[in-house]
Amino acid sequence: MSDLHLGLVGVGRIGVMHARNIVGTPGVGRLTIADVDPDRARQVADELGASAARDVEALLAAGVDGLVVATGTASHPDLIRAGVDAGVPVFSEKPVAPDVALSLPVLEHVAARAGVVRIGHQRRCDPGYREARRAFAAGELGWLHAVRAVTCDVAPPPVAFIATSGGLFRDVSVHDFDVVRWVTGRDVVEVYARGSSNGDPAIAQAGDVDSALAVCTLDDGTLAVVTASRYNGAGHDVRLELQGSRATLQVGLDDSSALRSAEPGVRFPSGTPHATFADRFADAYRAEITAFTDLVRGEGGEELCTPADAVAASAVADAAQESLRTGVPVRVPVPVTAA
Ligand SMILES: NC(=O)c1ccc[n+]([C@@H]2O[C@H](COP(=O)([O-])OP(=O)(O)OC[C@H]3O[C@@H](n4cnc5c(N)ncnc54)[C@H](O)[C@@H]3O)[C@@H](O)[C@H]2O)c1
Repeated sequence: MSDLHLGLVGVGRIGVMHARNIVGTPGVGRLTIADVDPDRARQVADELGASAARDVEALLAAGVDGLVVATGTASHPDLIRAGVDAGVPVFSEKPVAPDVALSLPVLEHVAARAGVVRIGHQRRCDPGYREARRAFAAGELGWLHAVRAVTCDVAPPPVAFIATSGGLFRDVSVHDFDVVRWVTGRDVVEVYARGSSNGDPAIAQAGDVDSALAVCTLDDGTLAVVTASRYNGAGHDVRLELQGSRATLQVGLDDSSALRSAEPGVRFPSGTPHATFADRFADAYRAEITAFTDLVRGEGGEELCTPADAVAASAVADAAQESLRTGVPVRVPVPVTAA
């Protein structure tokens, strides 16, 4: 296949980053952009030497080889379907849909048309998470007596975004639920969640918590604790610790880790902490776009998250939101296997 022509719909916070990565990916010859805000699509296209289409129909009619979806979550189902119906591979930002119930018809549609769809859980393209998965699968850690996953932002997004985000577990921790499943090769069968709201009262008024913890039981009895906060003054903090019977390994422990030691004389970590997810996972976001272009050419892309796996992570997030609401442990439904 000659140079690829990719389409991108949605150029907000993450879409602009994908646009830059797409034009910087070897083998991509052309990018066409659409957004409900056509001026925004035109502006980003002009900045990057790309083309703008007036809407997604025009974008697909332009003969793209693959579609990248980076719009708000509510529009993912329709846009994934549109790409599949146009017969092109689709890479959509997470999640497939706002919740599992809305995701299942999308999985059925993709399966019925043998669509090629992958979902943006970029940690699967991060070297640290990949090494954790390899080391555990190789038996180097033994059996796991504790798994600890952390995702903390420095400051909350606008309250208007939080109000439509589906909650902290669906918005933030869904990435941790995905990697807990992916790294351990186990399903989460039960979640018990608690949350707290000591930051801006507007977040609680919008129906969410600003910090939360979920105790997850995996299908072999292993316990994983997933924590998240909107208020981590030390920096953007994303880590995964696997504590095993033989060895312990931590993803995200390097000179940029957003923590400091209480021990006298210890100078580690000595670098500048990451400020945002875009900074922390810059290489992983580039790698997932490269993997998608490989997939479009039919040459690889195995590391990318399938829709079924993304929905399985969303099922854990849904259960965590339900546990947060009810105050009791919630069973996670049997994982989805279609698509
Ligand atoms: N993988 C990650 O780490 C990560 C990080 C942030 C956001 N996300 C996901 O990316 C998605 C976008 O998030 P964001 O923060 O960039 O949002 P955003 O609101 O900043 O940007 C969304 C853009 O899509 C456009 N848009 C919305 N609906 C559209 C439609 N139907 N057709 C065309 N354009 C449309 C908007 O005008 C806007 O420009 C969300 O689903 C979010 O869950 C993933």
